[in-house]
Amino acid sequence: MSNFKERTVVITGAAQGIGYGIAEAFVKNGDFVAICDINIEAANHAAEKLENAKSYQVDVSNEESVKNFVDELVKERGSIDVVVNNAGIQHVDKVEDFPVDKWRLVIDIMLTGPFLMIKHTLPYMKGQSYGRIINVSSVHGKMASPFKSAYISAKHGVVGLTRTVALETAELGITCNTIMPGPVRTELIENQVAKLAEVDGISNQEVLDKHFLDKQPMKRLLEPSEIGAVAVFLASEGAAAITGDAMSVSGGI
Ligand SMILES: NC(=O)c1ccc[n+]([C@@H]2O[C@H](COP(=O)([O-])OP(=O)(O)OC[C@H]3O[C@@H](n4cnc5c(N)ncnc54)[C@H](O)[C@@H]3O)[C@@H](O)[C@H]2O)c1
Repeated sequence: MSNFKERTVVITGAAQGIGYGIAEAFVKNGDFVAICDINIEAANHAAEKLENAKSYQVDVSNEESVKNFVDELVKERGSIDVVVNNAGIQHVDKVEDFPVDKWRLVIDIMLTGPFLMIKHTLPYMKGQSYGRIINVSSVHGKMASPFKSAYISAKHGVVGLTRTVALETAELGITCNTIMPGPVRTELIENQVAKLAEVDGISNQEVLDKHFLDKQPMKRLLEPSEIGAVAVFLASEGAAAITGDAMSVSGGI
């Protein structure tokens, strides 16, 4: 572990939603959190609410942005101990109607983004023989739904990236795992629910029951804090033997 009393934890897309829930959990655990987000106003606001966090504007799909952020953080903190790749977007369309620019955007943010953050933080983790990498995939990393081809391809890809990084780092004190959340109460879900309610001409609750909770045994949206708790565990000493794994946190899916 680094010489810092508290670990330095990078969380992408941490301005809101699941990322913010994960940030809250790490701060509560005694760590310092770098709130990375493309939306700097929201990131500033998120960091202000937390006791030990700082906001950084990072576009995870842009290599220069990721590299500059990593260099700046290492200068400030001396190390990077934990990386949580969480930033994400969604685009819903039939495959034949799916605009290629939307396809590329989704893949760039949710698959290339984790690759870039790992690529640029790994040398520091290797240098200190310690690191914890957690990639937020989805139950859509092991199953599909219609109209989400880019999202589902990216989320399956993240599982493969995780396994590869785990093999390359297994003897170096570094672990790399995936969390696969089921439906979580966040803006990403709320926006999709509103759009589908309009398309289907039904209420938001009916959309939730029909599209999100029909295959979910617990029949409830999960809370961001429930994902945060598992991320903190995967970054703990107790999880030192877990690597290359894809852990569902999904209410039973
Ligand atoms: N909400 C769910 O039910 C659910 C379920 C399974 C998996 N996930 C995954 O969890 C992650 C977080 O989802 P959420 O629901 O909290 O989403 P959200 O929309 O609430 O938050 C996503 C965050 O990512 C940021 N972001 C977008 N593009 C970025 C970029 N290029 N660079 C940096 N930051 C960027 C956004 O500004 C936002 O703050 C995503 O990867 C999502 O796919 C969500």
